[in-house]
Formats: sequence, C-alpha cells, structure tokens
Amino acid sequence: MATVPPCILFLFLVARTSIGIAKAQFYCESISCGKGGVSIEFPFYLKESQIPGCGYPGFELSCANTTTEPLLTLPAEPGHFTVKLISLEDQQVWINDPQECLPKRLMRDRGLNLQRSPFQLSSAYSHVNYTFLRCPSNLTALSMVQPIPCLNSGFNSSSKSSVVAILSNPPFPTPWTSPCHVISWAMIPVAGFPWLFWTDYYSDIKLEWDNPNCGSCEARGGRCGFVGPTLRDTAFHVGCYDLPTQLQGLSRKTKYGLGMGLGIPGALCIIALAYLFYAKMKTHEQQRLSRSDFSTIILPRLPAQIMGLDAASIEKYPKTLLGESGRLPKPNDNLCSICLCEYQPKETLRTIPECNHYFHANCIDGWLKMNATCPLCRNLPERSVASLTPSIPASPTY
Ligand SMILES: *[C@@H]1O[C@H](CO)[C@@H](O)[C@H](O)[C@H]1NC(C)=O
Ligand SMILES: *[C@@H]1O[C@H](CO)[C@@H](O)[C@H](O)[C@H]1NC(C)=O
Ligand SMILES: *[C@@H]1O[C@H](CO)[C@@H](O)[C@H](O)[C@H]1NC(C)=O
Ligand SMILES: *[C@@H]1O[C@H](CO)[C@@H](O)[C@H](O)[C@H]1NC(C)=O
Repeated sequence: MATVPPCILFLFLVARTSIGIAKAQFYCESISCGKGGVSIEFPFYLKESQIPGCGYPGFELSCANTTTEPLLTLPAEPGHFTVKLISLEDQQVWINDPQECLPKRLMRDRGLNLQRSPFQLSSAYSHVNYTFLRCPSNLTALSMVQPIPCLNSGFNSSSKSSVVAILSNPPFPTPWTSPCHVISWAMIPVAGFPWLFWTDYYSDIKLEWDNPNCGSCEARGGRCGFVGPTLRDTAFHVGCYDLPTQLQGLSRKTKYGLGMGLGIPGALCIIALAYLFYAKMKTHEQQRLSRSDFSTIILPRLPAQIMGLDAASIEKYPKTLLGESGRLPKPNDNLCSICLCEYQPKETLRTIPECNHYFHANCIDGWLKMNATCPLCRNLPERSVASLTPSIPASPTY
C-alpha cells in the first residue's frame, strides 16, 4: 500500500520535468536583431527582450543602434563590440568594432582586455606588442609600409601623414622610421605569425569560451539550456535538450545512468502498481483483465500543462516591504534571481514560504502567472498542488 504515493509522485515528477523544458523553449527561443541577423541562442541572450535567466552570465547582447549585428559589452572594455558570427558548436564568437576601426579601440585601450568576461582569445592568436607611429606620407607611400586608413582622419586634418603599427621590438633595426613620431603602443591580438607591420586590422577577432560547455550538445543537434524551467540556479547547471532522437547520441555511460536512474525505479513502480491492481481486481472478482485498462492505471493521464496562478492566488503569498537598509529578513540573499538585480531600499518583495525564497514582487508575480512553481527550487507551492491533484485520476483506495 505504502508504495503507491511515491510511485505516483515519481511518474508525476518525470512528466513535470518535461513540462518545465517546454516552458524554457517558450521564453528563451532563438532570436535576432533583425531579419537575417545573427541568431542569438543560449548561452547568449538578448537583454531587450529576454529575461537574464535565458542566458549565461557575461553573454548578454543588445540590439541597440543596430539592425542585424548584436552588440556585446566586455566588462573591462569601455563600449561595445559587434558580434559578427557565433558558432555554438565550436564555442566561438567573432567580434569587431561597431565603428569599424578596431585599431582605434585597441590603441586607446592598449589591447583587448577580456578580464572578467567569460571569453578568451582563440588559441590561434597571440598578443603582440605593436607601436603606433605617425609617419610622413612620402614614407608611408612606400609599398612595404601599410598605413591604417581609419586612423588617418581625425588626427591631423592636413593628412600629410599616416599612421602605421610596427612591431615594438622588431627583429632588425628600422632607421627609416626616424621621421615618424610615436603615438602609442598596444598588445594586438594577431592570428598566426606576426609581420613587421600589423596588417589584418579589419579582420574580426575570434574569441572562445569554456563555460558553459555546450559545444558537444549543439554538435549532436541538441539545444543547451539551464536545468530548470528557465532560470539559472546558483550553480548555473546546464543540460542538453531536444536531441533529435531520444537517447541517440548519448554516451553509453549516460544511457546506463538513465537506465539505472529512471528505468529501475520506473519498472519497480509499474510492477508495484500492476501487482496492487491485480490484487484489487481479484478481490472484486473481476476475472477479465483487459490490457487497455491495465495501461490506463499504470500511466495515469497527467495534466497537459501546468497553468499559472490567478491574481487572487498570487496575492496570498506574503509581501515584504524593504526598509532603508535594503536588508532582507533572510541574510546572504540580496539578489532577485528573476531579474538578477540587487534589492534596493523601499522595494516590495514577495516570498514563497514553502521554499523560503524571496523575489521582487513584480518579477515573481509575472512568473507565477505563467508557471505555478517556484523558479528556484521548482517546488509546487501547496496551494497549486491542491488544485492540480484532481486532474490526476484519483488513486483507488485499496
Ligand atoms: C546609440 O546611439 C545613441 C545616439 O546615436 C547613443 O547615445 C548611444 O550611446 C548608442 N548606444 C549604443 C549601445 O551604441
Ligand atoms: C610594448 O612596447 C613599448 C615600447 O617598446 C613598451 O613601452 C611597453 O612597455 C611594451 N608593453 C608591454 C606590455 O610589454
Ligand atoms: C620625405 O620628404 C622629406 C621632406 O619633406 C624628405 O626629407 C625625405 O627624404 C622624404 N622621404 C622619402 C622616403 O622620400
Ligand atoms: C598635426 O600636424 C602638425 C604639423 O603639421 C604637428 O605639429 C602636430 O603634432 C600634428 N598633430 C598630431 C595630433 O599628430
């Protein structure tokens, strides 16, 4: 007898997980800035129209002032970069300067600073110290010298001179640069072997990321995303969804794990239910056991969709008005995990007491309208469990 409730709970949980994934798809669909633009998918997300929970920290893109190419802001770098191409499979992104003068940016910032960002230069690159020189035009007219066109304007309107980037520590003396004067130096990302002059100043720069590690999932045709309805948990666990055919492409180890994890408890559940059903049928002296009846009991119909809560139910969850300190009754939790903003004094929070989780009231209200689960622990608050229970066929009392 005691085996029945855990069994139903188990089957129920399995079904609920897949509903959670369907929701994630709804919120965090692939998006782009304009028609034919770079497609923005997890771990990237678009800050104007998606919630931060749709992407990984540091992968926020914006469509401001652009029709096709989204903008990426590197934490250590003032200003934005245009995203030219994203390869989810290779975990690579190609960036460039929105003003199409990368040399100007690199000269100003002494190079490309990727600190505090999830990206690093692709392994094909090295940082090379180049010195920017302003040289008389009759010198830069020499065929071997490669002036940087986008740096010629803006410095000196007379334009009797042009700017070149030459190795700061050239392997041979360059006395012919003596009429030039030094403007600056920068560590330039160079793909391949560095030449005396920096020449590929118009090329996009290829960056890579290690985390989240979704390349193999994408390569197998799956879709990477957070484990959970749509929101990050604190450890930012990611999973692989929508693989073309179930289990195909999973490693043998994963299949084995799935088999052991789902198969055995599932099989035990079904056997237990079958036995109880059989016993019940026998006591009722119904000799004929049709196969279809059998299956309807083993796999109770689950609600097609877990709906959100109505406004009245949402209002039942307690609100908290923050004081001047902006401090929460619960310490070490000063961030709303829906909008990822810190709580400010005088803001109204709402809590789900069953989980002891706090959120901005306006953030959680919007969430609960669509999804009756706590976005962090994915527990069904008691009220909605009660309202959902009738949709599962009432388990017969044995
Ligand atoms: C967009 O353009 C406006 C005015 O042209 C400028 O003030 C703003 O900084 C730009 N935003 C970005 C993200 O480039
Ligand atoms: C690059 O070269 C310049 C000029 O030789 C030098 O002053 C600067 O310190 C160098 N920068 C680095 C990071 O080595
Ligand atoms: C460039 O012009 C200056 C004078 O304007 C001259 O002294 C110098 O020799 C010229 N350099 C070359 C490489 O022609
Ligand atoms: C502009 O050119 C003048 C001489 O033509 C020179 O003295 C001055 O340093 C130049 N300014 C810059 C920013 O290169």
